[in-house]
Amino acid sequence: MEWWQTGVIYQIYPRSFQDGNGDGVGDLTGILGRVDYLSETLGVDAVWLSPFYRSPMDDFGYDISDYCDVDPLFGGLDDFDRLLEAFHDRGVRVIVDLVPNHTSDRHPWFLESRSGRDHPRREWYVWADPGPDGGPPNNWLAAFGGVAWEWDESTGQYYLHSFLRSQPDLNWRNPEVEAAMFDVMRFWLERGVDGFRLDVAHFVMKDPDLRDNPVIEPGVGAFKDMAEYGTQDHLYDKGHPDVHPLFRRMRALLDGYRSPRVAIGEIHIDDYRQWAAYYGADRDELHLPFNFRLLYADWQADAIGALVDELEAALPTGAWPNYVLGNHDEPRLATRFGPENRRLAAMLLLTLRGTPTLYYGDELGLFEVEIPPDRQVDPWGLQVPGLGRDGCRTPMPWDGTPGAGFTRGEPWLPLGPQAAAMHVAAQLEDPGSVLNLYRALLGLRRGMPSLHRGGYRRIEAPAGVLGYRREAPGAAPVAVMLNFTGEGQVVEAAGEIALSTTMNRTGTRSAGSIILAPHEGIVIVDR
Ligand code: NOJ
Repeated sequence: MEWWQTGVIYQIYPRSFQDGNGDGVGDLTGILGRVDYLSETLGVDAVWLSPFYRSPMDDFGYDISDYCDVDPLFGGLDDFDRLLEAFHDRGVRVIVDLVPNHTSDRHPWFLESRSGRDHPRREWYVWADPGPDGGPPNNWLAAFGGVAWEWDESTGQYYLHSFLRSQPDLNWRNPEVEAAMFDVMRFWLERGVDGFRLDVAHFVMKDPDLRDNPVIEPGVGAFKDMAEYGTQDHLYDKGHPDVHPLFRRMRALLDGYRSPRVAIGEIHIDDYRQWAAYYGADRDELHLPFNFRLLYADWQADAIGALVDELEAALPTGAWPNYVLGNHDEPRLATRFGPENRRLAAMLLLTLRGTPTLYYGDELGLFEVEIPPDRQVDPWGLQVPGLGRDGCRTPMPWDGTPGAGFTRGEPWLPLGPQAAAMHVAAQLEDPGSVLNLYRALLGLRRGMPSLHRGGYRRIEAPAGVLGYRREAPGAAPVAVMLNFTGEGQVVEAAGEIALSTTMNRTGTRSAGSIILAPHEGIVIVDR
């Protein structure tokens, strides 16, 4: 099995992890000072760095103006090389973000493309004539609000932007775009990165005829919580089947490297059968299309169990699952599921079969930070009130000093009241802390083949409790019992209790029953 299957991935949002130069924004030298936290204190196997490339920062780095350079805010390429080396020295893999769907409108490619209809780079972006009524070419909407087309007065055409108007969509039907982006990938692969997380991977291919999306009732579709965007069935503005041959070519590029490199795709598709297509018919596309369904799962044993069963049934033969419980686009899990469920969520994520991706700060049990209106900066939230993502992007609290050990300056987003009590230093001192639970879970997962590579099978458990067994040939089998209810639950258990989410239960039992506390989870090893 490969490292991206047995390992645990940790997402770093570079703006918010550690500031090295005192400007209030995290940077690469800051991260360099925290590699031991990641490799030793926590013990993760890989990090995924959200974008640190040159960017006007309209979308905090997801609007790139140079794919092959580091934005001065974060440092330089030499800082990146040092960071990569430090991680590799400790056996930690590094995954970087690739944003293939769009660039910044200040990327030289776009500046050239919009400079004239005859410019050789014109077809690098999606340009179209006005519709019959003189308005936009079709009814497509931008995910961040408004229509997805922007009129360009000087050349008399519209360009497509699936997100902000300053994030024009590249035209992947043009082989020159593919060649250029593959060169970008080679640039980073040759520097030594271990893979990519592909931003909105399935957006890259749209309907070539630019057909209108069907209009649907608000509040019913897959994007029902996304305001106006949720009033359409997004049939034509993303996910065209031509994306599959493209991903096969991309995979061939990765497979051309001697050491295994991974492609992880940000794919928001709720139907597991459609989603699974992104592994490729012969597992020759993405290694891991991100599986986001747990994020909004109904937090109940039955519902979660059914979701895992559905996922396992939809996986192509030999494909490897993965799970996500938080990222820089979602409200913090502690707020989403409630404080009483933070520990259970950690145990679920780190004991299921499949690669877990952790979001920085979730290992502290951080809550969403309430951001006062005058400090809100996320362009999405500014365009569509209520959808802002600042609250999950606040700086990592490391200690009890005024800048929480994150910065000597003024942090770019407020730390929030929780930083004072929930920081890393305090939690390391407290044997029962959420951080110490994550450390114990990571240690257990790493040490037990059944957990990091074994199979998954549901076992009997009382209503409200999710029970499963993880088993790998030649290794001690493990049972996991998760009490999703607010009441005590009696479960049958034999073996050694390796870990409880309460952090205060140990002992070996030959047989008999255990009363799980409300929201308690346990891992039992059959030695
Ligand atoms: C998905 C990213 O995760 C999000 O942060 C970003 O705003 C959009 N893609 C646009 O790039």
